[in-house]
Amino acid sequence: MTHARQHRIQVVAHRGASDEAPEHTLAAYRKAIEEGADALECDVRLTSDGHLVCVHDRRVNRTSNGRGAVSAMELADLAALDFGSWKTREAWRVRGEEPEYEHRPEDREATSVLTLERLLELVADAGRRVELAIETKHPTRWAGQVEERLLALLKRFGLDAPADDAEARVRVMSFSARSLHRVRAAAPTLPTVYLMQFVSPRLRDGRLPAGVRIAGPSVRIVRNHPAYIERLRRAGHQVHVWTVNEPEDMDLCVDLGVDAIITNRPRAVLDRLGR
Ligand code: G3P
Ligand code: CA
Repeated sequence: MTHARQHRIQVVAHRGASDEAPEHTLAAYRKAIEEGADALECDVRLTSDGHLVCVHDRRVNRTSNGRGAVSAMELADLAALDFGSWKTREAWRVRGEEPEYEHRPEDREATSVLTLERLLELVADAGRRVELAIETKHPTRWAGQVEERLLALLKRFGLDAPADDAEARVRVMSFSARSLHRVRAAAPTLPTVYLMQFVSPRLRDGRLPAGVRIAGPSVRIVRNHPAYIERLRRAGHQVHVWTVNEPEDMDLCVDLGVDAIITNRPRAVLDRLGR
């Protein structure tokens, strides 16, 4: 039965429109904005010289033409790499077909390493409201530095202290309750999202770590435990689901009336929502 929707479901482009363009690049985020995504998701890591860059994996091997750990490289090392050409190779390997994305090495900025600062500029210049869902990766390794740098950067853009949720344009997500705690201690009004790969027995009743208002369950949790989603909502939490790429999962999330759908295919979700 279709859930009577009381709210607008937010469509969040996971690593940008990353089905069509190389993840975490300006090319992918520009495409997501063009396609009409409400928000952009990104992962952040610290380089050895203290810059926050948008990279998912610990190492750059999968998504660039280089090798090595982000944490052991300086921003200048990363800037020398190409984060785009792998996407063309992947399309041929996985689907045996020409990708929609055309890699143009001459457009250096589109597929060079993306700093969080540059992504914030892109959002500021989008010409419409576009929100950002920023995930802290491996925050324990850096003992608070990721959150510290992140909040300093958000402060420069005037995004760290929204008056309320309606004004908030940025939220911080993490699988680490400790990371979210650090964020809330320094920026109490910034919304935080607790990401979950499975339902921990401690939180089965729909509670979240203290002060967190948004739950971020995996799509597998939604598929296998729809009653848990209802419990989260009854406990007053918003529900942001990741990563919703299959048509039947998109339909399920729409039917359940979740608050945000995080997807590599924002256009496909928007089509379902008639937007
Ligand atoms: O949006 C949350 C989701 O991105 C968490 O998983 O591995 O894609 O960062 P991952
Ligand atoms: Ca992520």
